[in-house]
Amino acid sequence: MKRIVILISGRGSNMARLIEASLAGELGQAGIVAVLANRADAAGLRIAAAANIPTGVIEHRAYPRREDFDQALAATIDAHAPDLVVLAGFMRILTEGFVRHYEGRLVNIHPSLLPLFPGLDTHRRALAEGVRLHGCTVHFVTPLLDHGPIIAQAAVPVLDGDDEERLAARVLAEEHRVYPLAVRWFAEGRLTLAAGRVRVAGAQREEALIAPLLNGET
Ligand code: GRF
Repeated sequence: MKRIVILISGRGSNMARLIEASLAGELGQAGIVAVLANRADAAGLRIAAAANIPTGVIEHRAYPRREDFDQALAATIDAHAPDLVVLAGFMRILTEGFVRHYEGRLVNIHPSLLPLFPGLDTHRRALAEGVRLHGCTVHFVTPLLDHGPIIAQAAVPVLDGDDEERLAARVLAEEHRVYPLAVRWFAEGRLTLAAGRVRVAGAQREEALIAPLLNGET
């Protein structure tokens, strides 16, 4: 079984979706062995605990230096001997040393079609730019913020009358579809990374381009 550690900072809806997918056998031979947060009030911790998944908190505020926090975090993560570390709304910038330590086994989901809109407020910025397509990206993490080889993306339309909330909800629904799929691919050993490109062995054609069904739902 591939061992997965998930890092969160907040509500943890992607984490919850991954737990659900794991229980439903949708992650292949992968199990979530721990959920860790950088703040004790991360709501997702309660969801994980309710699913009997070990949780832990490494308070970033207890570490004045980013390097020290990252070291403490890595020590806690490594105690769970993960094959894959999944960032799911983990709101800390990670040091290069941390990222290098988990090279090729650290993934993130970002609520935009990268490389557009790295950083915060992606939905507001997408609306301000008037883009017609928006979406989410699962990628391997590199030391650059919201950057790295792309594993999967899902696009959604930006509709007339959208506000941040409506657009965010449409993107989030896709995040919940794409992240379990990407984790499954990893767990099945189907991802190869060469020259900055991720290839997925044996992906079905319908999985090759992840895009929502346009059935009028928003
Ligand atoms: C998601 O939009 C994710 O893409 C971003 O942070 C948000 C986390 O939401 N990195 P949740 O905690 O998974 O509900």
